[in-house]
Amino acid sequence: MIAIGSDHGGFELKEKVVAHLKERGFEVKDFGTYENKSCDYPVFGRAVAKSVAAGEAEKGIVICTTGLGISMTANKIKGIRCAVCSDTVSAKLTRLHNDANVLSMGAGIIGENLAISIVDTFLDTEFSGEERHARRIRLIEEEE
Ligand code: RB5
Repeated sequence: MIAIGSDHGGFELKEKVVAHLKERGFEVKDFGTYENKSCDYPVFGRAVAKSVAAGEAEKGIVICTTGLGISMTANKIKGIRCAVCSDTVSAKLTRLHNDANVLSMGAGIIGENLAISIVDTFLDTEFSGEERHARRIRLIEEEE
């Protein structure tokens, strides 16, 4: 299952990503927001991150205008490695190297087609499992 959430700034892109994920056959849990009305991104970033940290969701996707505030929120949750991606190379490498479990995107930064390619790359790339990368992730976890 993929957990997804956004604030008002990411709402329209979130709806498109949800439709794409469902088309691809993923089960999706949408934590909102469910309308364009102004709201607070930490509420939604936290909900997605907690779902992933609890093992309920395999991966999470969070979206705000920049992808920044909502990623900061997600990264406060123990066990979460959330990466802001605006290109597919970063999406691929953050899976291979960082085993990122939450993807953050900025709806005011990238367009829909690129966002969909980033989502697909993120979800279709496995962690490399290489020892040097696993060691670095353990070092990140020491700060939790
Ligand atoms: C909301 O206007 C905006 O601040 C938010 O979507 C996000 O970009 C924050 O980092």
